[in-house]
Amino acid sequence: MTDKKKRVGILISGRGSNMAVLIKAARAVDYPAEIVCVLSNRPQAEGLKTAQAEGVPAIALDQSAFAHGEAFEAALDAELNRFGIELVACAGFMRILTPAFVERWHDRMLNIHPSLLPAFPGRNTHARALAAGVKIAGCTVHVVRAHVDDGPIIAQAAVPVRDSDTAETLAARVLAAEHRLYPHALALFARGDARVADGHVRGPQVPVNQEKDLFWPPLK
Ligand code: GRF
Repeated sequence: MTDKKKRVGILISGRGSNMAVLIKAARAVDYPAEIVCVLSNRPQAEGLKTAQAEGVPAIALDQSAFAHGEAFEAALDAELNRFGIELVACAGFMRILTPAFVERWHDRMLNIHPSLLPAFPGRNTHARALAAGVKIAGCTVHVVRAHVDDGPIIAQAAVPVRDSDTAETLAARVLAAEHRLYPHALALFARGDARVADGHVRGPQVPVNQEKDLFWPPLK
């Protein structure tokens, strides 16, 4: 590939399974982004060890060691700049960022959320989806804006909800879809095939014969 790969920093707080699939996907020669560093606000995040094992610099910025949120975010910014980061990918980053930080990374920061936004933003999303009785659930990769789980949607994946589902079984089905969606969405965005215009993400052009509807329960 001739174009320069976009330099991506991933923000995590825990397990880091989405982070791990992004690291793996970005190893492909034709992937338009490289994962340059992983940053966590929690030193005990398991994902830090996974990143290290994959040879990616993994840094803990213990949020409790900072006097206030702005100081933590200043340190975060400093690390991202030190690594020359161009795009930030939040992957299970469980900290609400201030509007000032979000503004600094305007249209350069992505997030994944395990629901079909704008339905069920925030925590306990699977339990709330089950309580609402939805038949189709899913996940969303979006550009980050100041409100939690809000912002132009880059890509979504849908999965069926079964009558027997618990929050845990639904979370596992959605997570498997997340692991396919995030590398796809990051690639679209990094390549410029999906970009923000007038508040929405536009592109890429998909031939009609590639459209596929999900009916659940299935049609006979
Ligand atoms: C994922 O479900 C993600 O959508 C949500 O938090 C979870 C993080 O999982 N924001 P992991 O750390 O990527 O395994």
